[in-house]
This record gives sequence, structure tokens and C-alpha cells, in this order.
Amino acid sequence: MKGSLLYEGKAKKVYHVDGEPNQLILSYKNDATAFNGKKKDRFEGKGRLNNLITSKVFEYLKQNQISSHFIEALNDTEQLVEKTTIIPLEVVVRNVAAGSITRRLGIQEKQPFEPPLVELFYKDDELGDPIINDEHAYHLTGISEEELSQIKQMALKVNSQLLQLFKVAKLKLVDFKLEFGRLEDGTIVLADEISPDTCRLWDLDTGEKMDKDVFRESLGDLISVYETILQRLEENTCAK
Ligand code: ADP
Ligand code: TMP
Ligand code: ASP
Repeated sequence: MKGSLLYEGKAKKVYHVDGEPNQLILSYKNDATAFNGKKKDRFEGKGRLNNLITSKVFEYLKQNQISSHFIEALNDTEQLVEKTTIIPLEVVVRNVAAGSITRRLGIQEKQPFEPPLVELFYKDDELGDPIINDEHAYHLTGISEEELSQIKQMALKVNSQLLQLFKVAKLKLVDFKLEFGRLEDGTIVLADEISPDTCRLWDLDTGEKMDKDVFRESLGDLISVYETILQRLEENTCAK
């Protein structure tokens, strides 16, 4: 079923599916990178955790009428998805100040954003994924004003849904990054992954960082933190 390798990225390998030209298999690796690949390590079990967490999150979003590329988890480290042409944007939603916005704009960590902020970054490793405005996005990606507005609305809807999902798991959703892609007929759907690699999650009670910042800032054991996220999601989604 798994066909040839289409692409190898920093965190996943992407495979064709034999006989299914409109599907892909995403295979989650154990590698962790930060600061555009400048910091690197491998963590046994990370690929499994991110695959299972992303699968749970996309299943939950599907139940809540968010259209995405996700079809099903195939095994511990791989998932089947609809093939898309990725729009080279990283769409970041922020509920609370953390990470690059604190350095870029001098905003204190933990300051809340009400309503949440949506930021666009141009997905280009060589340029270091620079922040861009709407006009840059039209020019660089060819999306229309209407499509960008649709993407931002979807990102905010995903935020509302995920705030609830993570709150039940006793986690504060600080911020996260989304990617969108086009299906063959041009429809825009949510793609890529939603995991502690792509979200900031803080423990609701203690404020402890429970995401890839543990690796970025060398705060502790990444795998036990990701295990806790998966466990909390499993405990809280089986009843749904
Ligand atoms: P990166 O390319 O940033 O190093 P990954 O290692 O996660 O990231 O690689 C996975 C690649 O697969 C990303 O470039 C992502 O945009 C792409 N991708 C995710 N979902 C889909 C999809 N449904 N169709 C096509 N490409 C996808
Ligand atoms: P930032 O504060 O570094 O801009 O990150 C915002 C959010 O986006 C955070 O939840 C981490 C996520 N993110 C990615 O998923 N991939 C990236 O390459 C970067 C820089 C951030
Ligand atoms: N995803 C980026 C990298 O792999 C940056 C990050 O997540 O901090 O380097």
C-alpha cells in the first residue's frame, strides 16, 4: 500500500499510496528540531506520540465539522491523509503571549490576547519562515482575499474547538500553528499536524510548559511530557 517517498521533512516523511493518487501517508519521525533546524535531537517514541496525538485532534475536529486532510491513523507512527497542494503559509493563532511575539514586539510572556491574534508566516526554510502581511500572502501564494479570509475564519474556529478540547485535558492552549492545502478540486482544507510540536500547551494548574518548548529551552524530558498529553486526551475523548 505504501508507495515511494515523496518528501522527507524535519519531523515527517511523506509517501505516495500505490493505486490512490489522491492520498498520502505521513510517517512521523523521532527527530526534534528547533530554531529552523539549528538545534537537533532524536527521542525514541516521539513519532508515535505525535502521530497518535495529531490523529486524536483531527478526529475531534472532524466531529466538530472542520474539514481536513485526515482520513485515519494506520498504525503507531503513520496516518493516511488526502493529498493536497500545501499553501506555503504558517497560520499562527495566539491566545496568550509567548515565543516569537514576545521577542519581536516586546510583549510580556503570559499577556492574554482577547480576541486571539492571527499571524501569517511565509513557509520557506531558507528565509527562516518570515512573518508576512495579507498583501504579501496574496503575492507569494496566489490565494485570493476571500480565501485568506476563509483560512483565518477556519483558524479561529479551530482555536475555539481546541481551547475546549485542551481545557478538559487540564491544558491551556497558548498558541499553535496550522497549515492549509488545496484538494484536487481547489477546496481548501486543514492539513499537516496538530501536536505538542506545533502548539504551546501549559498545565492549567501549575503553568508548566508541556510542549516542544521543553526541547527548545532544555526544560526536561520531552517524551514523558508528550506521554502525559496523549494520556490526558485519551482519558477525555473516550466519553465523547
Ligand atoms: P517540514 O517540511 O517543515 O520540515 P515535516 O517534516 O512535518 O515539515 O514534513 C511534512 C511535510 O508534509 C510538510 O512540508 C507539510 O507541509 C506537508 N504536508 C502535510 N500534510 C500534507 C498533505 N495533506 N498534502 C501534502 N503535503 C502535506
Ligand atoms: P513562535 O512563537 O515561535 O512564532 O511559534 C508560534 C507557534 O507556532 C508555537 O505554538 C509553535 C508553532 N511553530 C511551529 O509549529 N513551527 C515552527 O516552525 C514555529 C517557529 C512555530
Ligand atoms: N519547526 C522549526 C524547526 O524545526 C522551528 C521550531 O519549531 O521551533 O526548526
